[in-house]
Amino acid sequence: MASRRTAGFGTQRYALAMRAIHWLTAALVLLLFVLGGWIVYFDPGDGPLKDELYNLHQSIGICVWLLVLLRIVVRLATGAPRLPPDTPGIVRVLATLNQAALYLVLLVQPIVGLMDTNAWGFPLDWFGLVRVPSPIGKQADAVAQSLSDLHWFGALALLLLLGSHIAGALYHGLIRRDGVVRHMV
Ligand code: HEM
Ligand code: HEM
Repeated sequence: MASRRTAGFGTQRYALAMRAIHWLTAALVLLLFVLGGWIVYFDPGDGPLKDELYNLHQSIGICVWLLVLLRIVVRLATGAPRLPPDTPGIVRVLATLNQAALYLVLLVQPIVGLMDTNAWGFPLDWFGLVRVPSPIGKQADAVAQSLSDLHWFGALALLLLLGSHIAGALYHGLIRRDGVVRHMV
């Protein structure tokens, strides 16, 4: 009897560029959580270290945004492998919603972060190389605080989406064993 693999299901992968961008983004997002968490929850003290951590977090955050734009173009050009035909409808719907929401948060979160920084009165000097135009400039503290709150909420939303994304990967890899994880490796 032909196995799923020989029947061709579950063996197709994303294009190399998609896989590279996926894992690069995952590594950078992990770094953003470490740096953001360090700044906010493990007070690095006022001084050069704190400035460096902020600049690194913000500059890498902009890289993630650019990578998402590139990823959308590559995705439209190269498409995506199909889920195995026996995948339950609800799993298809949840996967689509999860992935669409991940794209959305990854697009919005860096913009909110940039406005957040600008609103507190700090323009972004990307890796010390490029002055990024400030869309809103310095704002009243209440406005800046709302943007900080929104950025925190965006980070929480991303964390929850990633938790379910990884749970989905484990479900495919360990329970259904249907080759979907191989799409992305
Ligand atoms: C910051 C971390 C991550 C982000 C932002 C992310 C985002 C995404 C997005 C948006 C897609 C959909 C790609 C598309 O069709 O356009 C995707 C697919 C996928 N991701 Fe992730 N991911 C992350 C981490 C992970 C991790 C840690 C795993 C494994 C444990 C994983 C496994 C997969 C797999 C297997 C697919 C392909 C699913 C399919 O073929 O339907 N991802 N990811
Ligand atoms: C996908 C991209 C990003 C993610 C996942 C992310 C995540 C985080 C996290 C987890 C924190 C600590 C928790 C908190 O918000 O209080 C944080 C803080 C912060 N992030 Fe980001 N960030 C991203 C992009 C950016 C960008 C592009 C900028 C600015 C250009 C930025 C500016 C800030 C600032 C100023 C803080 C300190 C607390 C605040 O005022 O909100 N972030 N970020």
